[in-house]
Amino acid sequence: MAVFLGIDIGTSGTKTLAMNEDGAILATTTVEYPLSSPKPGWSEQEPLDWWNASVKSVRQVMKIARLKAADIGGIGLSGQMHGSVFLDKAGNVIRPALLWNDQRTAAECAEIEKLAGGRRKLIQMVANPALTGFTAPKILWLRNNEKKNFDKTVQVLLPKDYVRYRLTGEFATEVSDASGTLLLDVVGRKWSKPLLNKLGLDASLLPKVYESEDVTGGLSELAAAEMGLKPGTPVVGGGGDQAASAIGNGIVRKGVVSATMGTSGVVFAHSDEVQVDPEGRLHTFCHAVRGKWHVMGCVLSAGGSLQWFRNQLCQEEIAAAKKKKTDPYELITQQAAEAPAGSEGLFFLPYLTGERTPHADPDARGCWIGLSLRHGKGHLARSVMEGATYAMRDSLEIAREMQIPVKEVRLSGGGARSEFWRQMQADIYGQTVVTINAEEGPAYGVALLAAAGTGAYKNVVEACNATISVVTQTKPVANARKTYQSAYPVYQQLYRSLKNDFPAIQALLK
Ligand code: XUL
Repeated sequence: MAVFLGIDIGTSGTKTLAMNEDGAILATTTVEYPLSSPKPGWSEQEPLDWWNASVKSVRQVMKIARLKAADIGGIGLSGQMHGSVFLDKAGNVIRPALLWNDQRTAAECAEIEKLAGGRRKLIQMVANPALTGFTAPKILWLRNNEKKNFDKTVQVLLPKDYVRYRLTGEFATEVSDASGTLLLDVVGRKWSKPLLNKLGLDASLLPKVYESEDVTGGLSELAAAEMGLKPGTPVVGGGGDQAASAIGNGIVRKGVVSATMGTSGVVFAHSDEVQVDPEGRLHTFCHAVRGKWHVMGCVLSAGGSLQWFRNQLCQEEIAAAKKKKTDPYELITQQAAEAPAGSEGLFFLPYLTGERTPHADPDARGCWIGLSLRHGKGHLARSVMEGATYAMRDSLEIAREMQIPVKEVRLSGGGARSEFWRQMQADIYGQTVVTINAEEGPAYGVALLAAAGTGAYKNVVEACNATISVVTQTKPVANARKTYQSAYPVYQQLYRSLKNDFPAIQALLK
């Protein structure tokens, strides 16, 4: 039976996974690397670190699972989206890559909208508005601020596609990750020549675009020797981390939606046709399923809000958990469970790092509103979890508004591991939520794409149907559901009330 490797170039490390043809996981390993922030709002990494971590993690996985080079039937690549790797004509990296969470490009986003002929025209060409994290504004930033580096650049690659270049020598990408550059005609699944022209960018800067399960090349002699693999081993397109994770969660048909509560929170819905939110609140990207699309909302600090709460306010729980050899989140959740649904009128807005969906607002900040003498730590904890969950519901509501059916919500990430948070999600979303047997995220998704793309399955939908199944189901409880139905509009109103105050707060910090 063939084995497939999934390599996910994440922000904190590269995770490699080996999977059997029938979906069983044989080994996983993660190799970490640093992130640097040379100035406030900047976020950069060294592409060479990604390559070294890929080599090391592949070697480790091969060793742990006792695999031979000939066992590997194919490789899938996934990674953090939107990052920019600038290469010169010798294929060398010119400067550190700007990452998805880099905020330096506000001026370039405005420039793009202007050159495109306005926000509506831009959305018509590439299905999305310009956001600071996306790739196109980063290219313009280089042109505006480091002209010498821009003049040397002959190729711009996404993070996983740099690793692909090192593996195969090919400049290639695939539709799901390419969608997040803001340069892809998402409807036509090809680079947008009209937008490239308006921005004055040469199409030769960009790699060839494939569908996600297509083979984009084979391992070069050099890369195979470095990794201990066989030359010619096929490398499929793979996917941006969100689309890849959706494949790993089996989000491959209409009506099935995922809600992933990690540091950031992502709501991801499959769609058979291109559906664009005219206000641009949800991203509309190509899916890693051939000829399909998806919409996606991204809450920047979802689980990240609870992590902040733990780190800043729960030293006692951290110490107690250490003694009891348990996880501090368990103790925090126990306290949260003692407060009633709705936290007796206490609301938390989770905008600790600004927000992307539904309010593309870098100035927004976190708040507790409604505090009274009745409130204790349990209320604080519960309100943080509720705030993050309301923020996720915002994306589900926009999807519903766009007539995207939400029949089944599949939970993953930290928010899926706690029974308490699963129940809260069912109550706040007003919908039965389920968890599935696979928990490995993007690396698993691209291993499935590799299996499908090299013929182990007819296509990736068949691969998902054969390997992924529902393991738990949580239904909303009537009383809590009623409380949240009344509280959610209040939560929504709070941002609208505070929106104009956030820039004033930011101005104080300058
Ligand atoms: C997706 C996004 C993040 C990054 C990093 O739009 O910005 O998920 O891909 O994980």
